[in-house]
Amino acid sequence: MIPGNIRNKIIQDLSIVEVVSEYLPLTRKGNSYFGVCPFHDDKNPSMSVSDSVKMFNCFSCNTKGNVITFVAKYENISYDQATIKLAERIGLKISANTSKEALKQERLENIMNEAAKFYSFYLKNSDEGTEALKYLHDRGISDEIIEKFRIGLAPSLSDGLYQFLIKKGFSELDLIELGLVKQGENNKIHDIFRIRVMFPLASNNGKIVGFSGRIYTVSNQAKYINSNENVLFHKGEVLYNMHNAALFARQLDKIYLFEGFMDVIAAYRAGIKNGVATMGTALTKEHIASILSVTKNIVLCFDGDEAGIKAMRRSAKMLSSYNIIPEAVVLPNNQDPDEYIKEYGAKQLEAYLISKAKPVYYWLYKLAYDKVIKSDIASVEQFKHTVFEFINEINQETIIDYYLNQMANDLGIDINSLKKDFVNKIGKNSSVEVNNPTNQTNTVSQVQLAEVPITKAVRRAYQIIIKHCIYNHNKLNKYLAHTQDFFAGSGLVLEFSIIQAIETEVLINPKLLNTSKFAVHNISVLCSDEQFKEYIENIINDKFIDISNDDDFEQSLNLIIKFIKKVKTRDIKNRIIRGDDSAINDFTASKKDENNL
Ligand code: CTP
Ligand code: MN
Repeated sequence: MIPGNIRNKIIQDLSIVEVVSEYLPLTRKGNSYFGVCPFHDDKNPSMSVSDSVKMFNCFSCNTKGNVITFVAKYENISYDQATIKLAERIGLKISANTSKEALKQERLENIMNEAAKFYSFYLKNSDEGTEALKYLHDRGISDEIIEKFRIGLAPSLSDGLYQFLIKKGFSELDLIELGLVKQGENNKIHDIFRIRVMFPLASNNGKIVGFSGRIYTVSNQAKYINSNENVLFHKGEVLYNMHNAALFARQLDKIYLFEGFMDVIAAYRAGIKNGVATMGTALTKEHIASILSVTKNIVLCFDGDEAGIKAMRRSAKMLSSYNIIPEAVVLPNNQDPDEYIKEYGAKQLEAYLISKAKPVYYWLYKLAYDKVIKSDIASVEQFKHTVFEFINEINQETIIDYYLNQMANDLGIDINSLKKDFVNKIGKNSSVEVNNPTNQTNTVSQVQLAEVPITKAVRRAYQIIIKHCIYNHNKLNKYLAHTQDFFAGSGLVLEFSIIQAIETEVLINPKLLNTSKFAVHNISVLCSDEQFKEYIENIINDKFIDISNDDDFEQSLNLIIKFIKKVKTRDIKNRIIRGDDSAINDFTASKKDENNL
């Protein structure tokens, strides 16, 4: 593999128009050049070539790419060969010794795959396996499902896997790095997973990156243990079964998110193949990015217990910042899908999941309302607080209204006083109107400090940051590290969406990190989005934004950090004005932060 910065440089430094015109005639129209596409049978000039976005794009056959892709395709050579060829044009010599990292990745993936084969073989071909198979069959997991999910068994032997993999010629260090074995007392190496039914965990492209092992005998050990985080396995990224579910989720335009991977398997038995689960962790931005790359229609299916409701609540909140309201299904009697199937059968589970999916807020409301003791003021207040908090995340006034009305009905209280309560407690933005008897409108903005103005300098700083982030992943990370959990409000929606789009693209395509493809990919994605197109093109063509000038980036970032501080301080002050005592602590903490800077 050739390092990303070399590819980047080639794409940046070479004029794609110049290179392509050596292969075929181009004519200029406005800012772009057009030619007859060589990649399909055509007589019209359907292919545009542009130095501003550094891409070619055929509107007829949809072939597109950068200068390297063009040469590779035209000459029918590999991407690497084309890179080497073009590198010479800008005076770079590429050595063959650049593939170390790629080789390592491949080697480690290979080890994980062999480990899965070992566990699978052991399940089917040992006495211990007979017992483990009985456990699985008793749980309704058929041989077909075992094959499908590549379920296996870790033996009780202390170093069964270790011996197997060493004999295959793999290195001890790799096995340790992958968290398959570890060095114990007297320096003896032993397996990490023992006497456990093994469930391989795959990345989105189907490569095994880790394992989860479940006890199947009477044992006082943890029910599940998962692989440690390692070079391949990042808990916050893996969605169990995503590599299989993606296709179905795309076709059905819907995905089920379960709490445990056993639930995914249960749902699969009920014919629901578009199910995934996190590995016992909360939903992350990375998970959401993978999900959104296949569908926006998400159905949460968590346990109906406290933990499940909390997870549902947290996931709804995460998704609300993407303007997504997921649906949810809560099974009766706190059952999980696996338990439900056992009691009612697969057909019934399928029917339930399909017919009972409702917006997550319906469930959150219902679950909270079920607990209210109406004669107890504290309980009613708690209920109001819970509902206020989650409806405050909803970006649609009609839905907020719907729940406020519902609550007024259910509690038998006046809608206007409830609205007032809501506005006072949460300080919802000014669009929530409270009708008072004299028909004047009374909005919360009366008790809020003015917005922090978005100055020209702030806007400019964002443009500079966007351009730098498009081309440089490290800068993107740096920006993100300073702006976590921050949203400036409607004034910067476009800027925010663009940076979020770059971030999402990176998350969906982690291979792009710090490769030349990074910039090209970002630009092609951003520019295919109508909303972003003009804005991005202007930024890219803006000669005054020089992506090699790191100082410009730093200065812009500092300006934004200051801006964020102002907005945050204003928010805290607003909370103090509204009588939120906890805000005072936040205020002193933020002051301390400032002093430490
Ligand atoms: N989990 C874990 N460690 C545990 C318990 C749970 O990592 N000790 C994670 C697992 O990823 C599991 C998920 O949390 O899939 C949900 O846990 P739970 O609901 O307890 O598991 P079930 O799916 O019900 O598993 P089973 O039916 O085998 O008990
Ligand atoms: Mn279960």
